[in-house]
Amino acid sequence: MVIAVDGPAAAGKGTLARRLAESLGLPYLDTGLLYRAVGRRLLDQGADPADPVRAEAAARALRPEDLRRADLRGPAADHAASAVAALPAVRAALLDWQRDFGRAHGAVLDGRDIGTVVFPEAPVKLFVTASDEERARRRWLELRGRGVAAELAEVLAELRARDARDAGRAAAPMRPAGDALLLDTTALDAEAAFAAAWSLVRGKLGRD
Ligand code: DC
Repeated sequence: MVIAVDGPAAAGKGTLARRLAESLGLPYLDTGLLYRAVGRRLLDQGADPADPVRAEAAARALRPEDLRRADLRGPAADHAASAVAALPAVRAALLDWQRDFGRAHGAVLDGRDIGTVVFPEAPVKLFVTASDEERARRRWLELRGRGVAAELAEVLAELRARDARDAGRAAAPMRPAGDALLLDTTALDAEAAFAAAWSLVRGKLGRD
């Protein structure tokens, strides 16, 4: 059983997907980490994350331990991840990785294209959203919690730019699958968002 959880940055999909996985006894994969690890490697090399040849090589060389690096979050890593994610060769290189993970024991995967490209046959697909302002506020609080000083307006502008790149790219753009269940978490805290998601998932599994 595979559950696809997609949506824009800071909509709460990671927290939700992890809790769904725990409740269902399934492995969890944050697929954004794959793109982040590839982008990070290019930054380490002093290379341009939009360089398709070097980015594909980095994607093909990805190891599970690369996903555990502590420096995969933050503005530079966000930007590099979004740049490598626009490259078709990188996406192709990471596709089998994600499919193998999901097929081994079933899984909950979160990302941007899980329900549309990676597992279009997934029986349950959620597309998690929240208003731009609320997502920026959450990201800003998270940055502050990690001791990173940032202006809220700047966080909002970067979030919008990243969403526009993720939704506007030609290769596997972020969008809800036709059969995705939409969940807007703007007015929900993590607990309420999980309760709403759990009820959607139960409803879907019970009906099918
Ligand atoms: O979910 P995240 O913010 O960690 O994702 C990092 C970047 O990777 C983001 O800009 C979108 C991209 N991404 C993607 O294109 N496809 C996925 N399945 C997951 C993430």
